[in-house]
Amino acid sequence: MTIKLFRHAAIYTPLTGAEPAPMPRVAEWRDGAMLVSDGRVVAAGEGAEVERAARHLRPDVEVDLEGAAAVPGFVDPHTHACFAERREAEFSMRLAGTPYLDILRAGGGILSSVRSVRAASEDALFRAAAGWLAETMRYGTTTVEVKSGYGLDTGEELRMLRVIDRLGRETPQTVVPTFMGAHAVPEWYNSDSYTRLVCDEMLPAVAEQGTARFCDVFCEREVFSVPQAREMLSRAAELGLGLKIHADEVNDLGGAALAGELHAVSAEHLLAASDEGLDAMAKGGVIAVLLPATAYSLRKPFARARDMIERGVTVALATDLNPGSCFCQSMPFVISLAIMCMGLTPDEALAGATLNAARAIGMEAQVGSLEPGKLADFVVLDGSTPATLAYASGSRPVRSVWKMGERIA
Ligand code: NIG
Ligand code: FE
Repeated sequence: MTIKLFRHAAIYTPLTGAEPAPMPRVAEWRDGAMLVSDGRVVAAGEGAEVERAARHLRPDVEVDLEGAAAVPGFVDPHTHACFAERREAEFSMRLAGTPYLDILRAGGGILSSVRSVRAASEDALFRAAAGWLAETMRYGTTTVEVKSGYGLDTGEELRMLRVIDRLGRETPQTVVPTFMGAHAVPEWYNSDSYTRLVCDEMLPAVAEQGTARFCDVFCEREVFSVPQAREMLSRAAELGLGLKIHADEVNDLGGAALAGELHAVSAEHLLAASDEGLDAMAKGGVIAVLLPATAYSLRKPFARARDMIERGVTVALATDLNPGSCFCQSMPFVISLAIMCMGLTPDEALAGATLNAARAIGMEAQVGSLEPGKLADFVVLDGSTPATLAYASGSRPVRSVWKMGERIA
């Protein structure tokens, strides 16, 4: 058993509280300390108190954090990080004015990533994905959700989910796998026949393989309609998967309301979500996973985070890391957009990128805050408060990254 004492840290952490509030309270201990045993938090709080408690435990290692802010490791609850190649040429087309969905309609976009993923060996795909994730780690991400969805047939989707599972076993980050077979409609299918394939063949096979925790569906005009998404997600729920929806990203189709109706764990994007949709989410206890770097990269207005919070919706933040709509590996960039462009306070943005993000992937018992019993996953910032994430936006205000009490970056 290794016991470590981290001293002289300005600790900022959301607190779970008796009732899960949409916006948890953030505790701060300006001269704080944290005691860690075998990778888990034993105590975090006011320095003198924690050090008193530590005395009779005789820590094996003491680390002086020299007054820097320490926050929970970032939890990125929405990525498509399992891809083989970047799509920079498509980005140039978007800059020149071609809309994202037009590129997809012409057989590019997601479908071009499908071609490169299918062409990559399982090892090559693993190495590529591990490379994208290693960069997220340098920016403080210690837990990450990764979706499949560039396979689009049963065997290829199962292969992607195996690669994602291997990322969790062979890299330092905690990885939560999501099945997203309904990411686009591949050649040889229309959205109806593909919906049948997902319900009748893919979902049972995914459940049988047992590696996915969630099922996500891209509910969008010319992709999957609300009734199709309802059918696939209902089948996924029967098979024991948690539910997520890419909802109202480009057009308001009613995806947010569907998430409320199905009591999905989360609805994601929501750039075009209506008031009724948001109210349905609040009522159904659905977490809004907001992806401001995607709005930035698509040059769209940001999601209405303040309206969501006022309506009682729990808000989480994620990168959406993918080769098309948003090649962003930095949770600090996402946090700075949330603060500067969406009106979140630094405390709200911190909670959105940690505890609320952990809730959005069912990981709140393990990660997302520095509270006793949880993994000692934390980021030491290059500054004395979490506001430094926005103050120093454009740079990497991260001094070190720790996973279960061990330095990983
Ligand atoms: O969240 N909207 C669908 N999926 C991703 C983009 C994936 C891609 O373009 O490769 C998104 O924006
Ligand atoms: Fe996405």
